[in-house]
Amino acid sequence: MPSNVPTPEQIATLHRAASQAAQNSYSPYSHFRVGAAVLLENNAIVAGTNVENASYRLTSCAEQAAIAAAVTLHGPAIRIRAVAVVNLNGAACMPCGACRQTILEFATPDTLVFYPSATGETVETKLSDLLPAGFRLLP
Ligand code: THU
Repeated sequence: MPSNVPTPEQIATLHRAASQAAQNSYSPYSHFRVGAAVLLENNAIVAGTNVENASYRLTSCAEQAAIAAAVTLHGPAIRIRAVAVVNLNGAACMPCGACRQTILEFATPDTLVFYPSATGETVETKLSDLLPAGFRLLP
């Protein structure tokens, strides 16, 4: 197994961090409480939650919040090994298109994304499958 594959323990911790962040969701409009956590190449885990706004389009998704926090805490050179997205509503929740592009900015070739399916199972996929032709300016 290549060493950059997250361990089951890291993946479990990632999900716990995402669930914990979702408890703090500010979602008075949708009541959809989302948490996301990113596992970085330095093995740190950083989480975020969705923050809505009365002007709906200003809402930040949980993934964006987690990535902004990760850059704030660990600097601009972060690389994301894995992302977990959860919600407290028992609903399917795959990252939106904007979040896929946001993850890509810090992705490695193997970045994994975990999200809940409509049947409640956790889906594991690669970012390249969720966003096959993402936009890049940097090599
Ligand atoms: N949301 C996220 O935070 N992440 C996702 O992957 C999907 C949607 C949030 C945005 C908004 O606050 C609420 O869920 C409903 O769309």
